[in-house]
Amino acid sequence: SDIIVGIDIGGTSTKFGLVDQSGEVLFQSKITTQTHSDFRDFIKELDDAIKKGMSEVGSSTKLIGIGIGAPNANYLRGTIEHAANLRWKGIIPIVDIMKNDFNVPVMITNDANAAAMGEMIYGHAQVMKDFIVITLGTGLGSGIVCNGKLVHGHDGFAAELGHVIINPRGRQCGCGRRGCLETYVSATGIKRTVYKMLADHLEESELRGISFHDLTTKMIAESAQRGDLVAKDAFEYTGQVLGAKLADTVAHTDPEAIFLFGGLSLAKDLIFEPTRRHLEETLMPIYRGKVQVLPSGLQNQSAPILGASSLVIDFLNNNEREV
Ligand code: BGC
Ligand code: NA
Ligand code: ZN
Repeated sequence: SDIIVGIDIGGTSTKFGLVDQSGEVLFQSKITTQTHSDFRDFIKELDDAIKKGMSEVGSSTKLIGIGIGAPNANYLRGTIEHAANLRWKGIIPIVDIMKNDFNVPVMITNDANAAAMGEMIYGHAQVMKDFIVITLGTGLGSGIVCNGKLVHGHDGFAAELGHVIINPRGRQCGCGRRGCLETYVSATGIKRTVYKMLADHLEESELRGISFHDLTTKMIAESAQRGDLVAKDAFEYTGQVLGAKLADTVAHTDPEAIFLFGGLSLAKDLIFEPTRRHLEETLMPIYRGKVQVLPSGLQNQSAPILGASSLVIDFLNNNEREV
């Protein structure tokens, strides 16, 4: 049967799935993203892992295309450009490299755009025409769907909501500027908030003494559930910053729903509740009570993989199948 590879490149790990035409993920695996200092070595490792996966699902399968979701990806050029949270700077021509290696159509889009496509085709957004997906991982990504279409923008870089500046003198961002939303609201952002709170207050906290590297959002969530005040405050603050910023975003496109994805969204109510509350408080009255903040309708991991693979399905449908 025909198989498409859907890839989700993240700051920490890169997940991929072998997807059939009905959207079923037949095989899923992952590799670490940042082990190699040269992106070509990373792509080589990814290619090998895909080939291994292909051989595991059996010889009757035929690869018909590869779809990639990645941070700072450019859909129009097939590149990853100046990524804020990847160690490879400059322009990475990943689509050309993988096309060469596999000889099938290869497409790329922004990781949050891919998540939005997955949600639209297979998830809760199937009946929606206007919605936004926010991914909360190493960075903050967004995918904006208007009138049933993903917004790509003139140059292919639309919807970089992680890099709207909320405080010009704020935290240093991987993009080279200061005070971007993702430095506050993301898995990394909430860790920075915990650290700041621990430094500013002498309050007891079970998070004290844990190194930044070892601290995870899961640990912060578990501490908050046990009643740790610093951990609880960190979630409240994160939801406040996110909710307030989303109120601005609502004013741009008037979405029916905003989906929260990614590592931090797994903390469920700890992040959803303050985000909803601050969003409602900040919204212009005309929007109040009308914008839902929802978790993904798909398994968190599979939405970007499915969305990325759907790039290929769309492409093949529009370009008569020859492969
Ligand atoms: C990047 C986005 C990406 C997001 C989530 C941001 O730093 O600029 O392109 O969607 O991180 O990975
Ligand atoms: Na995007
Ligand atoms: Zn930035």
